[in-house]
Amino acid sequence: METNLQKRRENKKSLRVKVISLGNAEVGKSCIIKRYCEKRFVSKYLATIGIDYGVTKVQVRDREMKVNIFDMAGHPFFYEVRNEFYKDSQGVILVYDVGLKESFDALDTWLGEMKQEMGSHANMESIVFVVCANKVDLTKRRVVDESKGRLWAESRGFHYFETSAQSGEGISEMFQAFLSSIADMCENGGRRPASGVSAGFTREQADTIRRIRGSKDSWDMLGVKLGATREEVNKAYRKLAVLLHPDKCVAPGSEDAFKAVVNARTSLLKNIK
Ligand code: GTP
Ligand code: MG
Repeated sequence: METNLQKRRENKKSLRVKVISLGNAEVGKSCIIKRYCEKRFVSKYLATIGIDYGVTKVQVRDREMKVNIFDMAGHPFFYEVRNEFYKDSQGVILVYDVGLKESFDALDTWLGEMKQEMGSHANMESIVFVVCANKVDLTKRRVVDESKGRLWAESRGFHYFETSAQSGEGISEMFQAFLSSIADMCENGGRRPASGVSAGFTREQADTIRRIRGSKDSWDMLGVKLGATREEVNKAYRKLAVLLHPDKCVAPGSEDAFKAVVNARTSLLKNIK
């Protein structure tokens, strides 16, 4: 009797969830999953053909979770196979290779494909996202730094982890945070918990830092036209300083962006009469 009751209670607690992996071909999606589920790494590249499916049972706090993992092929060739599998996902693992900038730039395209396939009725707020900056073991070829990746992820309310499927760095921490957020979401009536990923900074701050990094000169950085007056430069500077001051802004890269803005103002004022 006692054991049956106990069993029933446990069954009640058990959760079935669906997660998918997304990202360009060869960034390491399958290897990340293999590292977590099988605790091993395969150095030979075996492209996923269409989709790979696996299921793993994990314990998250007092709940047993049955995690159905749909590991997508990144190659454009498999779009027709992949597009069937986006719907009903509770979690998405977005992966890029820190040594390939185009794989980072492609994250927006992957989100776009997902939104398109899920249709306008789909609620992206009911999905937990984690971004994996993968292959961090290959330090010499790294081109996308941590603040860039973290900013992209956290400004969207996504988790961010630096991972290496090869060494195992960050993999179990990533899955633990990811799956526990999914469990929280399920308990929270299907809404991504606000505290799950608390960015602590605004979208405006994140966008401004991104714009500053990509600016072509000091005028562009301050957002003033060529030949602007001292007053205009100072006004633009004050606005950015309030937004990005390191005492007020915790967004990754804010300190560098703030310094760049200070330098831009100094160099512009030197040349304005
Ligand atoms: P598709 O299935 O084609 O979309 O690729 P994928 O993203 O699943 O890539 P996969 O996991 O198959 O890995 C691609 C290649 O990168 C393989 O040769 C892996 O051994 C290698 N690789 C994956 N993760 C890492 C890593 O963290 N570090 C290093 N050094 N190599 C890795
Ligand atoms: Mg794969």
